[in-house]
Amino acid sequence: MQTYDGFKEKELNYTSPFEIFYDWFEEAKTEEINDPDAMSLATVNDDGQPNVRMVLLKKIDHGFVFFSNKNSQKGIELNKNKSAAVCFHWKSIRKQVRIKGEVSIIAPIEADNYFDTRPRGSRIGAIVSKQSSVLSGPDQFSKEYSEFIESMEGKEIIRPDYWVGYRIIPNEIEFWLNSDFRLHQRLKFRLQDKSWTRDYLYP
Ligand SMILES: Cc1cc2nc3c(=O)[nH]c(=O)nc-3n(C[C@H](O)[C@H](O)[C@H](O)COP(=O)(O)O)c2cc1C
Repeated sequence: MQTYDGFKEKELNYTSPFEIFYDWFEEAKTEEINDPDAMSLATVNDDGQPNVRMVLLKKIDHGFVFFSNKNSQKGIELNKNKSAAVCFHWKSIRKQVRIKGEVSIIAPIEADNYFDTRPRGSRIGAIVSKQSSVLSGPDQFSKEYSEFIESMEGKEIIRPDYWVGYRIIPNEIEFWLNSDFRLHQRLKFRLQDKSWTRDYLYP
């Protein structure tokens, strides 16, 4: 007799996918050993070549907010093509969430507020790292980091304008959950005329 772990009834009654996301994310926060807020972020370059890497989800409001360097590879790609996708996989609860949408840079004051909560060392790292640029060797970054720390002793560390927050406003959110015999379940929400429609998909 197979066990069948479907969506919970309350999840099926939610009208907004954000509500399911909140529930799953809370569950992931208690179950995942490391980084339940880690998500893969896909962007696309000028040649249509996708590029994917992990980032951390730092805020959920009407979108999903992460922080990065505007001059990094992802920053350059997002500047030209605002379409992006993110994917969470919470292994310990065997759930996946895929999100597609448009990305925009959050207000500077919001980024300042978050930047100021970070440890001094992380703020300095964000300033010194010319993210995605080529180093002259393995020690260059740590050398520059130490020099910067010395030069800033006793001084305030302010967010540089190239360190920004991005908000992905979703137009599709898909929830996947594991079931026995690969009878996995998929529930996909699409934003149409400002309201969410839902479809169940074959796994
Ligand atoms: C778990 C995890 C979380 C990460 N979080 C971030 C993040 O929030 N922001 C960021 O810029 N890079 C983050 N990184 C590093 C990126 O994956 C990536 O190496 C970096 O942003 C450069 O990517 P790019 O050259 O494609 O722009 C994280 C890496 C890992 C493994």
